[in-house]
Amino acid sequence: MMRTVLIVATLLLGVGAVMAQQDVAVQQQNLMKTQGKSMYGVLGKMVKGEIPYDQAAVDTALTDLGGEVTKIPTVFTPNPKQDVVNANFGSSQKIWQNKADFDSKVPPVTKAIADVKGKIKDAASLKVSFDAIQEKCTGCHETYRVKLK
Ligand code: HEC
Repeated sequence: MMRTVLIVATLLLGVGAVMAQQDVAVQQQNLMKTQGKSMYGVLGKMVKGEIPYDQAAVDTALTDLGGEVTKIPTVFTPNPKQDVVNANFGSSQKIWQNKADFDSKVPPVTKAIADVKGKIKDAASLKVSFDAIQEKCTGCHETYRVKLK
């Protein structure tokens, strides 16, 4: 009886640990998805002319993006050691082998966002700024993001 209880308890603990790890992976992915919403859902769509140019929306998206990006080093501190179930992208284990280098990819994004503030006045200037920021996002993605499907 005691043995069964112990085994069940151990199994439950195992399940709890797996779920906690999955939560970490989801939290990390959600941060990126939020950044994606400002970057591609707002700015990218305006660059492509899919939605009309809107100065207030541009300013809000940039402020939001700037805030989200600074959270990356902390949110990516724990290693979930697994991908989000059914996800398109995952995190490379290289992040946790070289966390200092991973973290060093964040300030260039913050700087790119700060540099374009006040310079965006229309769709054309937005495109230049969008490309400059995007290049810095890619600076991390090319090494640390894994395409799963
Ligand atoms: C310091 C590294 C780093 C920087 C900087 C970074 N990312 Fe990411 N990003 C990642 C990693 C790692 C993943 C994979 C994690 C995941 O999707 O679970 C990712 C995934 C993504 C995804 C895919 C999310 C999905 O649907 O799975 C989007 C969108 C994204 N990033 C947007 C951005 C944007 C926009 C920027 C720049 C403003 C940016 N990221 C900057 C590391 C970074």
